[in-house]
Amino acid sequence: MPKLNENYLNLKESYLFSEISHRVNSYISTNPDKRVIRLGIGDVTLPIGPAVISQLHEGVNALANAETFKGYGPEQGYAFLREAIVDYYKQNNVIIDADEVFVSDGAKSDTGNITDLFDKDNVILIPDPVYPVYVDTNIMNGRNITYIDANIQNNFLPMPDHSVHADIIYICSPNNPTGAAYNKEQLKEWVDYALENNAVILYDSAYECFITDETLPRSIFAIDGAKKCAIEFCSLSKTAGFTGTRCGYTIVPKDLTFTASNTAQMSLNAMWNRRQTTKFNGVSYIVQKGAAAVFSVEGMAQCKKNIQYYQENARIIAEGLAQKNIRYFGGVNSPYIWFECPNNMDSWDFFDYLLCHAQIVGTPGAGFGKNGQKFFRLTSFGNRENTIEAMERINKLF
Ligand code: MLT
Repeated sequence: MPKLNENYLNLKESYLFSEISHRVNSYISTNPDKRVIRLGIGDVTLPIGPAVISQLHEGVNALANAETFKGYGPEQGYAFLREAIVDYYKQNNVIIDADEVFVSDGAKSDTGNITDLFDKDNVILIPDPVYPVYVDTNIMNGRNITYIDANIQNNFLPMPDHSVHADIIYICSPNNPTGAAYNKEQLKEWVDYALENNAVILYDSAYECFITDETLPRSIFAIDGAKKCAIEFCSLSKTAGFTGTRCGYTIVPKDLTFTASNTAQMSLNAMWNRRQTTKFNGVSYIVQKGAAAVFSVEGMAQCKKNIQYYQENARIIAEGLAQKNIRYFGGVNSPYIWFECPNNMDSWDFFDYLLCHAQIVGTPGAGFGKNGQKFFRLTSFGNRENTIEAMERINKLF
């Protein structure tokens, strides 16, 4: 009999968004006549822009001819896409090298897979509430987690406690689920803390394209010293509507080295390369062709137009909550609106209440950690009509 990874016994029975789907499907099967509006999982609804679509077609066409056919590509991504990402960073005054860029099928996989590079025995700091992938993947590996509270008192932006040592620190900014975003001074404090502790920051910037406040950093590498202590994960899911197409990238600086127990210098860039070349065969050529077009002038303009549409949805949601005196956070510099459950309800109770009485699906805050117990998240990624209708239904409900 195989000895199983019994760390799985320590996980919640199902992944947050699977649990939500399960509850929604069960509601729909007993209430087939009701029109359910889904503002739960952050899944985009607008089609991908024409500049990207035309390059996806080009990618398909290339596979139809012997001269342009592509088989296995580089595991790290095609040079044309890695260079396009380097240029994108340059536009934000961040200089990285193409061999620090690793193209992948998204930030979810990479933030989970990165745990391969670290020993079980590490002090891991994870904010609460947080994107559940960071927590679940560490539990799968049997690691203990130290949670840091993100709450109203600290504007959902916890700062380092210099009296506590950490080896690995997770930061998501703009934050999923709270929508809070660190400014440069705050991030600098985290970078300094990581350097003091010889720690690594795993920085999820999947929502950077939602930043409208130009003083806020869109990359941790905008902060001095970050290349010595941080890995950044980014994604085209929300930037370019790639939730189904799948493409993201991870930046692992070459300066990121640590001393092994035998005193050898270990480079996280080399380790990640080793890991990816062993376990991953790269993103399809077709998808990478489309992804590169995201970074073209035309492609980016089309993406920005879609993002503005979602930002207007966020404004409509925020306005609707304000009218009902429901305290909310986020929605600016972020596609998520995080609010207190009315009448002090627990978030899963509120989830059921909203589904049964208004046929609206949101995400219960408790799914992101104990500090989310009394909070709820709505996404701005729905279509306009549904977003407006959802807020009208909420207006009538309270
Ligand atoms: C979310 O709703 O939190 C995200 O869509 C999940 C994800 O990006 O995997």
